[in-house]
Amino acid sequence: MRLTEVERAMLDGEMGEATQLAMRLLVGIGKVENATRMISISSAHISGVSYQNIGDEGLEFLEELVEMGGRVRVPTTLNPCGIDMTRWRSMRIDEEYFEGQKRVLNAYVKLGATPTCTCTPYLLENIPAKGEHLAWAESSAVIYVNSFIGAYTNREGGLSALAAALTGRTPYYGLHLDSQRRPQILINVEAEVSSPLEYGLLGYVAGAISGSKIPAIRVNPPRRISEKKQFAGGFSASGSSGMAILSPNLTSEFEGLETVDIGVEELKRVRELFAPNKDYDIVFMGCPHLDASEVRELAAFLRDRRIARGKEVWVAVSRRLFKILKDEGVIDRLRKSGVKVFADACLVVAPVALRGAVGTDAIKTAHYLRSLKGVEVALAEPWELLAGVLE
Ligand code: F3S
Repeated sequence: MRLTEVERAMLDGEMGEATQLAMRLLVGIGKVENATRMISISSAHISGVSYQNIGDEGLEFLEELVEMGGRVRVPTTLNPCGIDMTRWRSMRIDEEYFEGQKRVLNAYVKLGATPTCTCTPYLLENIPAKGEHLAWAESSAVIYVNSFIGAYTNREGGLSALAAALTGRTPYYGLHLDSQRRPQILINVEAEVSSPLEYGLLGYVAGAISGSKIPAIRVNPPRRISEKKQFAGGFSASGSSGMAILSPNLTSEFEGLETVDIGVEELKRVRELFAPNKDYDIVFMGCPHLDASEVRELAAFLRDRRIARGKEVWVAVSRRLFKILKDEGVIDRLRKSGVKVFADACLVVAPVALRGAVGTDAIKTAHYLRSLKGVEVALAEPWELLAGVLE
């Protein structure tokens, strides 16, 4: 692999032990992937922030990097840690766990990362421009920025994104190359897709069909952020590809590709797969984290209505958005309706004691709550879910 003088100095340990370790990891990945060189990145986004996921071993590793003098070299944001770091008691989290999570975040902050703790950094905290090269973990965000913004990032793991942050480099392979961003499979959608949930279902079906391939999907592309987020969430949950191309006008350049048709039946089947249990006491929205208009719409919908006794509605947003909405009075209006709005949160990566089924409008949460935690789910449109928990 060809390295610049600076990259060589990193590898030789001239720029600190943590940087050396990170560069060794990246060179190893580059060799496996046949990358010929590194590329500079403009930002990193790190997953592996939840104490539940990384455990004491991960925490000790981060603290060792801090002791080695590690420091990120590009703007670096963090994925949700899972629990709201100011309202964790309301999430039924115990103090010991909170203390462990605090140490994880402290270590990341000492490394220079910004503790954004959101899976939608592209909305407010870390907004990439078209054509920028990044090293992002968080699969739904990777799919979002590659497919809808035109940024360039591979689907990094937490460790490779951290190594890229510490060096400002990533191996030049995969989705960083225009030649590797061409579709490898064509999916014809013969169904009307219009709501965020429906785009989530489409993403889930398309991800399962595509596997690691980039699909060209013949469909009206999502316009609203909420639709794009749900597509990205669904696509990330069922497949391993980092990008999709959505357009109603796919031309002859895609002819000759393996072609699969999706109809209403396929979307309906997935919806039914995740909607067997209507008996839920808690509704979770915000996977990926809600954007401003989604929260405002929710507050408008709930005006003068209240969540019934014994029922709960949890909503997850980024901390930056939480502050904006708090200043607007939206958070207080939602609280009056009985809604709990959390920052930093994700039900999938937090040890939240869930007593029964969970109602959700997000197929990614439905998929992982069931597959990772064995929790029963009810996947439905937001207003359908809310109808089941209102007074
Ligand atoms: Fe975000 Fe957690 Fe969903 S990280 S995308 S809320 S599974």
